[in-house]
Amino acid sequence: MSAVRRLDVALDARSYPIWIGRGLLRDAARWRAAIRGRHVLVVSNATVAPLYLDTVLAGLDGLQAASLVLPDGEQYKTLEHCGEVLEALAALKANRDACVIALGGGVVGDLAGFAASCWMRGVDFLQMPTTLLAQVDSSVGGKTGVNLPAGKNLVGAFHQPRAVVVDTDTLASLPAREYRSGLAEVVKYGAIGDAAFFAWLEREADALAARDDEAVAEAIERSCRHKAGVVARDEREDGERALLNFGHTFGHALETAGGYGRLLHGEAVAIGMVLAAALSADLGLAAAADAERLQRLLGRLGLSTALPDGSDAQALLQLMYLDKKNLSGQLRLILWRGIGAAEIVAAVADAAILQRLRRG
Ligand code: NAD
Ligand code: GLY
Repeated sequence: MSAVRRLDVALDARSYPIWIGRGLLRDAARWRAAIRGRHVLVVSNATVAPLYLDTVLAGLDGLQAASLVLPDGEQYKTLEHCGEVLEALAALKANRDACVIALGGGVVGDLAGFAASCWMRGVDFLQMPTTLLAQVDSSVGGKTGVNLPAGKNLVGAFHQPRAVVVDTDTLASLPAREYRSGLAEVVKYGAIGDAAFFAWLEREADALAARDDEAVAEAIERSCRHKAGVVARDEREDGERALLNFGHTFGHALETAGGYGRLLHGEAVAIGMVLAAALSADLGLAAAADAERLQRLLGRLGLSTALPDGSDAQALLQLMYLDKKNLSGQLRLILWRGIGAAEIVAAVADAAILQRLRRG
């Protein structure tokens, strides 16, 4: 096994490790130490479970362990399926020292983490993320939740995991499109707060596109380090954490306009980041050359940054007004002053946004 990278999310008594390395799902001796009680429920989905569930269950030998395999898809991130997780905990006769393990992408992580936050008013959970997006973003930071018909992630809780186990070998089975989608979130960290990381990504773009093991592990570590720092400073998103939504207001509007499933989250975020960067240039906040640099990097990583054909600027703007970051009906956007320097900007004129959406 190659070296295991470790970093920590520093939250006083709730601090937790993130381990990144090859074969970590098999390395139960490491992650079992984070399990405090006897009852463990592993939650996964129908795509991931056949690949990795047995490995995780083998590591739970001697404990009272059970598993729940949910259908695969964002449309199952619901209260109903959260209820299934809670029923499975009841069937296991899980106590307050129970532990839920989320084995899968962001959908499983958000849902299983939310169920853990509800069971007996909150029990431990471990994140075992198996998509790049989950490894660099959703498994870290304790945002858990489910969707309602009225919108994504409308019901949720801040509930930090006990540990995050990033087994990079799981990426071998991840479809190329899902991998590229995760790279958009990696680029985001460089774009919003780390110009040196951005320059590193430009140097390593070919290696990352080719899924070179070392480059991928380094990108995951640097992304998680960035996110861990933000979460430690602003766990509840009173300020800085909102910057992690760079490109997301445009991106969510694009995802919703296209119907969930047409654009993957990272694909929409890639387009959204370039729109946010170009809008920043339109407003004189940043240089147009920086927006072009961002667009070039995303393109080299295989991500399209063009608005989908037939996009309706006015409809997208209306969808942007539904974003959770908005306050008192006023749009708040994450814009930037250039690579590595994002900021929250309130009251951007609708006309400027519409003009940018029409130019693409
Ligand atoms: P996902 O969980 O749907 O996974 C994408 C696809 O990859 C699924 O079909 C899944 O079954 C499959 N898959 C997962 N791991 C695999 C593997 N190793 N091999 C083969 N197939 C595999 O999607 P995602 O992109 O991981 O996460 C998106 C979700 O994350 C959304 O619900 C979003 O709201 C949420 N999210 C949460 C946060 C947060 O901070 N909590 C942040 C970003 C996104
Ligand atoms: N993905 C944004 C956040 O965790 O805050």
